Amino acid sequence: MDLKSLIRDIPDFPKPGIVFRDITTLLRNPEGLRYTIDTLAQKFQQAGVGADYVVGMESRGFIFGPPIAYQLGAGFVPVRKPGKLPAAVYSAEYDLEYGTDTLEVHQDAFTPNSQVVIIDDLIATGGTAAATVKLVEQAGGQVVGLGFIIELRALGGRQQLPDVPLITLVDY
Ligand code: PRP
Ligand code: ADE
Repeated sequence: MDLKSLIRDIPDFPKPGIVFRDITTLLRNPEGLRYTIDTLAQKFQQAGVGADYVVGMESRGFIFGPPIAYQLGAGFVPVRKPGKLPAAVYSAEYDLEYGTDTLEVHQDAFTPNSQVVIIDDLIATGGTAAATVKLVEQAGGQVVGLGFIIELRALGGRQQLPDVPLITLVDY
């Protein structure tokens, strides 16, 4: 399936010079949504990656993470923007293509040494994913795979990430 044709380009959002890759047009397409979830999950299975937990980052990782967790027979753990999680957290600050932000995870989210797959809609600079890797490791999880619908290759994000299977479906 031609997933790229379902992703909409919005120039100069949220800032001049950024081409925003809008996945809402993919999400609203029933065949596109099913293909996206099924293909990402299958690629993890083909790579021999099993998971106890899938982690998704707020906001768009919350859309794709849970259905992938369901397919892999894993639980879902949210990594959230600051001040949202109610119990004790670990925090990590990171740089974005268009700013800086902080992410948090519950300190007791993972059983020790559990296998964790990180899922988000898109990897750009890799700052969000690298901060999430740090949080997972701090909380006692072991990152065994990362998955993104979209990779913005020119930004080199994958170089910031550990040497585990990294699965993407669409490149720019
Ligand atoms: C976007 C996207 C990724 C991140 C990728 O999220 O969903 O999480 O940027 O960029 P990076 O690889 O340079 O870190 P954003 O921070 O815009 O938050 P949102 O999902 O709440 O819109
Ligand atoms: N997150 C970071 N960069 C992005 C982009 N160009 N489009 C959509 N989401 C993004």
